[in-house]
Amino acid sequence: MLSKQNILPSEAILERYGTRLAGKTIFITGVSKDSIAGELALQLSSVNPALLILSARSESRVQPIVEKIKARNPNVATRFLKMDLGDLKDIHRAVHSLDDVPKIDHIAAVAGIMMPPYGTTADGVESQFGVNYLANFLLVKLLLPKVEAAGPHSSIIIVASSAVRSGIINFDDIGYSDGKTYDTLAAYGQSNVARVMFVKRLAQKLSAKRIRVYSIDPGAVQSGLQRHVTPEMGTFIEQSYASGQALRDVDGKEYKMPPWTSSSEGAATIITGMIDPTIETSNGSFLHNNAVADEELHSHVVTQSNWVRLWGLSENLIGGKFTI
Ligand SMILES: NC(=O)c1ccc[n+]([C@@H]2O[C@H](COP(=O)([O-])OP(=O)(O)OC[C@H]3O[C@@H](n4cnc5c(N)ncnc54)[C@H](OP(=O)(O)O)[C@@H]3O)[C@@H](O)[C@H]2O)c1
Repeated sequence: MLSKQNILPSEAILERYGTRLAGKTIFITGVSKDSIAGELALQLSSVNPALLILSARSESRVQPIVEKIKARNPNVATRFLKMDLGDLKDIHRAVHSLDDVPKIDHIAAVAGIMMPPYGTTADGVESQFGVNYLANFLLVKLLLPKVEAAGPHSSIIIVASSAVRSGIINFDDIGYSDGKTYDTLAAYGQSNVARVMFVKRLAQKLSAKRIRVYSIDPGAVQSGLQRHVTPEMGTFIEQSYASGQALRDVDGKEYKMPPWTSSSEGAATIITGMIDPTIETSNGSFLHNNAVADEELHSHVVTQSNWVRLWGLSENLIGGKFTI
């Protein structure tokens, strides 16, 4: 393992461990031309997976990536999966449409939104919590039998963010009083805390099955994600970069704004989570810059009673138990 964090391109991780992905079926959400997931799909196509299941709300988002994959490695099969993560019913429908796929070796849940104006999913859940987190809770529940069928060393990777450092779960009011107290950044932080806590609890529950489970911070990548950043927020971000001034997490611990990196570097830590054999003893960890980075998590995130509480809350919101 890289015991120390290193920003590396995806190619470097694939060169070391990429043969482990040959012949595998890999499921990726959030695929589009400019997204980290789009880059991830393209990178993975070079190591001969059997099938890439590429999910998005519309096929036109995925098509440019499919064309690049075909040009790079025509032997790789791709399959488009239409799925709106802001609609639990649509997630059920999409997963049912995969009934003919017997196993999935790796899930990379990458799709997400950042700091949109207040809104709710089709199910009435605040949209960042719903799309970034709750959708993954249901998706993993529904796809888990296929990952189990793939056996040990299969993986479930949930992309999160450094925003985990500034967030907590507002357990008594995850919807910010129907938007009345909504703060875009706090809600993005909340959704990322949920992603990381979910992985912690999932890893505990899956410990006997040797399925790899990690949350990851891909680092800062210019992508479609910044579409809701207001000019004021943009100025704050630029000033933070320029001054080099430290930010503070929920516990008051200092941290730096992450440097801008390429999309290949953004996808790399996802690949580390999928296949780096040396991190298997740290299952359930938060990864950053291709290394275990649990020391970056604040006290609210690492409190186990919060993981349990979130699991119960999520079961209520999806309207069913997720028993492992
Ligand atoms: N970029 C960064 O600096 C950064 C840093 C830390 C963490 N992250 C995390 O990395 C992930 C990927 O971000 P990115 O930079 O690749 O952003 P992006 O370019 O905006 O890609 C996000 C993808 O998610 C999809 N998506 C959004 N809402 C969806 C929904 N309701 N149903 C299905 N798909 C939906 C988008 O589809 P449409 O094109 O249809 O909207 C898009 O393809 C996010 O989860 C984000 O939180 C990113």
